[in-house]
Amino acid sequence: MRAVIIKLSVLLTLVLSFYSCSDNPKEKKNILVNQAQEVFTVPKRAAGQKDVIELTCEPIDTVRMAIIGLGMRGIGAVNRYTFIENVKIVALCDVVPENVEKSQQILIDKGFPKADSYTGEEDWKKICERTDIDLIYVCTHWDLHTPIAVYAMEHGKHIATEVPAALTIAECWQLVETAEKTQKHCIQLENCIYDFFEITTLNMAQQGLFGEIVHAEGAYIHDLRWLNFEENRGYWNMWRLKHLEKTDGNTYPTHGLGPVSHVMNIHRGDKMNYLVSMSTNQFGMSAYAKKKFGDSSDYAKRNYQKGDMNTSIIKTEKGKTIMLQHDVTSPRPYSRLHTISGTKGFVQKYPREGIALDPNAHHFLSDEKRDSILKLYVHPIVKDIEEKAKEVGGHGGMDFIMDYRLIYCLRNGLPLDQDVYDAAEWSSIIELSKISATNQGISLKIPDFTRGAWDKVKKVTYYQK
Ligand SMILES: NC(=O)c1ccc[n+]([C@@H]2O[C@H](COP(=O)([O-])OP(=O)(O)OC[C@H]3O[C@@H](n4cnc5c(N)ncnc54)[C@H](O)[C@@H]3O)[C@@H](O)[C@H]2O)c1
Repeated sequence: MRAVIIKLSVLLTLVLSFYSCSDNPKEKKNILVNQAQEVFTVPKRAAGQKDVIELTCEPIDTVRMAIIGLGMRGIGAVNRYTFIENVKIVALCDVVPENVEKSQQILIDKGFPKADSYTGEEDWKKICERTDIDLIYVCTHWDLHTPIAVYAMEHGKHIATEVPAALTIAECWQLVETAEKTQKHCIQLENCIYDFFEITTLNMAQQGLFGEIVHAEGAYIHDLRWLNFEENRGYWNMWRLKHLEKTDGNTYPTHGLGPVSHVMNIHRGDKMNYLVSMSTNQFGMSAYAKKKFGDSSDYAKRNYQKGDMNTSIIKTEKGKTIMLQHDVTSPRPYSRLHTISGTKGFVQKYPREGIALDPNAHHFLSDEKRDSILKLYVHPIVKDIEEKAKEVGGHGGMDFIMDYRLIYCLRNGLPLDQDVYDAAEWSSIIELSKISATNQGISLKIPDFTRGAWDKVKKVTYYQK
C-alpha cells in the first residue's frame, strides 16, 4: 500500500512540476520541481493530551531499576550502574540464563544484593507490571525497543532504551503518543552526545564560537563485518545481520545525528523538514562472506539489501543542512564525522580533531591552541564527573556520563537531556532514508513529532540544580 502511495505521489509531483517549471524556456524542458513527499502524515494530538517538551516528574530519591537484555551492551550497563549512587538494580532479564548469571555475579562481586532474575521470552512484561520499579533500561536487539518502552510507560515506568529507540515511523509515533499520554520520561540512550569532544563542541556552539551554525555532518562508519558474521560470539541470534539482509538506508542514524541535532537545537527553535537519501549498491558483505565462508556458502549467496554506504541530507526549517552517513560493511577507519560549520568557524572530530576560526579559518588552529580551547569550553555538566567517567569508562567515559546524568535528573526532578521527540526524530531516519534511497533519492517530509511545539524552547539545555 505504502509503495503505491509513494508511486502515486511521485507521479503527481512530476505532473505538477510539468506545469510549474522555471520561467526560463530552456530550463523548462529539463528541470522538474520536486516537492518533498508527505508519505507519513502527522496524526492529530488527542484532546487533552499535552506535549512533553521539558517534561519534569516527581524527584525519585533512590532509583529502582530493571535492566532487560544483558548481552554485550547490557552487561556493561550493569557494571557501570554499580558506580552510581542512589540506584538499586532490582531485576535483571535475558533469555540466555548465563547472561543473567554473569550480571548477578557483577552485583555480588561489588557487594550489592542479587536482583530478581528473569529468563522468559516475555518476562519483560512481568517486569513492567511490577509496582516497585521506577526505571526500565532496555538493551535488547532493536525489535524489542519500542514494544518494551510502550508497555513500560503504560505501566507507569520511566523508560531508557538503547539506540535506535524505534525502527519505523509508526513505532516513533507509538513512543511519542505513549509518552504524552502517560507523561513519563522516554529517553533514548544516545551516549555520543556525551563524548568529551562532542559535548565540548556543543558548549562552544552555544557560547557562539562558530557564529550561526549553518551545516553539520554526522556518521556511523564502523567496520562491523566480522561481528555481524560471527555465529557464536557475536550478536544474539545474528540479529544485526538479519537487519542488513532485509533493509537498505541508514539503519543506525542516532550516533551521528544525535550530537549535531543538539548543536543545531532541533525541536528547540529549529526542526528537520525534509530529507533525501541515496545508497550505493551492496558489495562489501557479499565479498566478505565469499572470502570468509566460500563462494558456494549460504552467506555468500544471500541477497543483502543494505547498500554499503548510505548518505542522507536533511534540510531544516531555518535553512540549515545536516549530512548523515552510514557504513558498517566497508574496510574503513571508524568515524562519526561530527563536523560543524558556522558563520564564524568550523570544528571536526574525524579523521582528526580540528578547529578553524575566522578570520584565519583557511587552516586549522595548531594542536596546542585547539587543546587550550577545548579545555576552556568543557561543558559545565562534565566538570565534576570527568575524572570518574574516565575511571569507570564505557566508550572512554561517555557511557558513564550518560548514566550519571539520567539518574541525576531523575533524582532532582529535572527535564532529561534527551526527550521522546529526540528519540523519534533521530530514529525516524531509518525508515525515511530507506524509502528515499530505494526510490531514486526522492525528497521526503520528516514528520514534526512535536506537532507544532518545536519552537517552544529556544535551545538545548542540560539542566543542573
Ligand atoms: N550506544 C552504544 O554505544 C551501543 C553499543 C553497542 C550496542 N548498542 C545497542 O545495544 C543493544 C544491544 O546490543 P548488543 O551489542 O548488546 O547485542 P547482543 O546481541 O549482545 O545483546 C542483546 C541481548 O538481548 C537478549 N534478548 C533477546 N531476546 C530477549 C528477550 N525477549 N528478553 C530479554 N532479553 C532478550 C539476548 O539474549 C542478548 O543477550 C542494541 O540496540 C544496540 O544497538 C549500543
